[in-house]
Amino acid sequence: MPNEVEIGPASELAPGTVKGAGPYAVGNADGERFAVTRRCRHLFADLANGSVDRAGCLVCPLHGARYDVRTGRMVVGPQGVFSKIPGFGSFLKALTVVLPLGRGRVVERDDTLYVE
Ligand code: FES
Repeated sequence: MPNEVEIGPASELAPGTVKGAGPYAVGNADGERFAVTRRCRHLFADLANGSVDRAGCLVCPLHGARYDVRTGRMVVGPQGVFSKIPGFGSFLKALTVVLPLGRGRVVERDDTLYVE
């Protein structure tokens, strides 16, 4: 199909997994597969190197910002030194209300996953 990105075998996207597929960070949050654009809204870290936390959020590998993968919005701002800057996390969270991560739809055909 045109405009589809192949992720790979469905068996390789187990719960808790995050990986890259073209412009997307794809993963599995408690059995829910997701695809979001892979650049963090903070300093553009590659979210494909991130992780899924116990709440099912995608965690940025660089400063720990957390994203709701269903909406693409940042729900927890950058951690470490950035968390000490007054209003900074709130600013980024508000930014992602207007500019959430892009989202794709993960589909499975013949045991292979794709992003539409
Ligand atoms: S680059 Fe993602 S939280 Fe800083």
